[in-house]
Amino acid sequence: KNKLFTYDPGFMSTASCESAITYIDGDEGVLLHRGYPIDELAENADYLEVAYLLLFGERPTPEQHRDFTKLIKNHTLVHEQLTRFFQGFRRDSHPMAVMCGVSGALAAFYHDSIDVTNQSHREITAIRLLAKMPTLAAMCYKYSTGQPFMFPQNHLSYSGNFLYMMFATPCEPYVVNPVLERAMDKIFILHADHEQNASTSTVRTAASSGANPFACIAAGIASLWGPAHGGANEACINMLEEIGTVDRIPEFIARAKDKNDPFRLMGFGHRVYKNYDPRAKVMRETCHEVLSELGVNTPLLEVAMELERIALNDPYFIEHKLYPNVDFYSGIILKAIGIPVSMFTVMFALARTVGWIAHWKEMYNQGGFKIVRPRQLYTGEKQRPFEKMEKL
Ligand code: SDX
Repeated sequence: KNKLFTYDPGFMSTASCESAITYIDGDEGVLLHRGYPIDELAENADYLEVAYLLLFGERPTPEQHRDFTKLIKNHTLVHEQLTRFFQGFRRDSHPMAVMCGVSGALAAFYHDSIDVTNQSHREITAIRLLAKMPTLAAMCYKYSTGQPFMFPQNHLSYSGNFLYMMFATPCEPYVVNPVLERAMDKIFILHADHEQNASTSTVRTAASSGANPFACIAAGIASLWGPAHGGANEACINMLEEIGTVDRIPEFIARAKDKNDPFRLMGFGHRVYKNYDPRAKVMRETCHEVLSELGVNTPLLEVAMELERIALNDPYFIEHKLYPNVDFYSGIILKAIGIPVSMFTVMFALARTVGWIAHWKEMYNQGGFKIVRPRQLYTGEKQRPFEKMEKL
């Protein structure tokens, strides 16, 4: 196999698994999905093409893309009983809490019909998850607004249908804006997969016990929710809004550098990238495109660009190799599309579902049930006797 790198003992000591799906070179700021650079995929593909590539290892032919899209569209509806599941949540629940619940609930609908050792069961599970996540995500939003759920429209594209289910109402005709549709699709592509990040590792660990795949995805959603991970897009836009104007930026830069202050610049830094996150570059260009095509002039972009300029020239950030990551500009685009901040991480979960599924499928293709069982360095008490307590 043409390995992109030769295994060195140091690398292998930290590598948790082998995978052929995504390659990251953090020092060079390189991200490849099955060998294709992320910026070329974002520019030239649609999300379902990238999903096919991640799931099957090769880009689809036009016929395969047509058939794959049709298959997805056959599964966009969720069981009518699942719609009643939402009633158990308060209307003001965080949409990620609801997403954890309802995606896990899918396990209850498909538990008996799945044999994860059966490849055709794994294929249909992948299709169901890819097809239903936009429907569930839009239902989370609609439920929070008190508006009725909107059924999927299979004549629309994957991203167009999502926008329809989010923003259409039974009272008015809804026309998908092609600028927003393309922006949504790019955002989905940029979030589709990212090697062994925390949520993907969570899904792989859960799946390694042979657990129900829908429950494994719910575990991935829970892990993604954290502000250090997928929750950073929501935290970043809240930070930009708190900064408000460019003259307040130095105050926040100082806080980010203060070891006694837990504040971190949201959307900055990365465990792997010690160079510019290639997704952030595409996100920044998309941000400018979308805002100018929509005629949106938001101070958030001005603050973000000035914050980036200052940070990239600051010795602390240079020394710590802190660059904008995928979450830095995404929130500005999502806001321009009309997506509420509370739904930002749901967008990330929706897009990353295909990455989680691709890794889940890869595990079985690599031999399946080898349960993940990390060891630890024990730092606790030495063995000691336990005398019975004379209770009062
Ligand atoms: C995602 O893994 C993935 O691939 C994730 C992801 C994906 O697609 O799945 O790419 C998506 O999660 C992107 C990251 C989104 N998170 C944020 O934007 C939150 C803000 N970033 C930080 O919390 C932090 O940068 C992390 C968590 C992302 C990475 O942290 P690391 O690698 O564990 O580094 P660290 O926390 O040990 O920090 C190293 C140093 C520290 O200073 P020292 O103690 O060494 O002096 O850098 C500093 C940190 O204080 N630092 C920051 C900082 N990030 C790191 N200082 C200020 N602001 C920051 N954002």
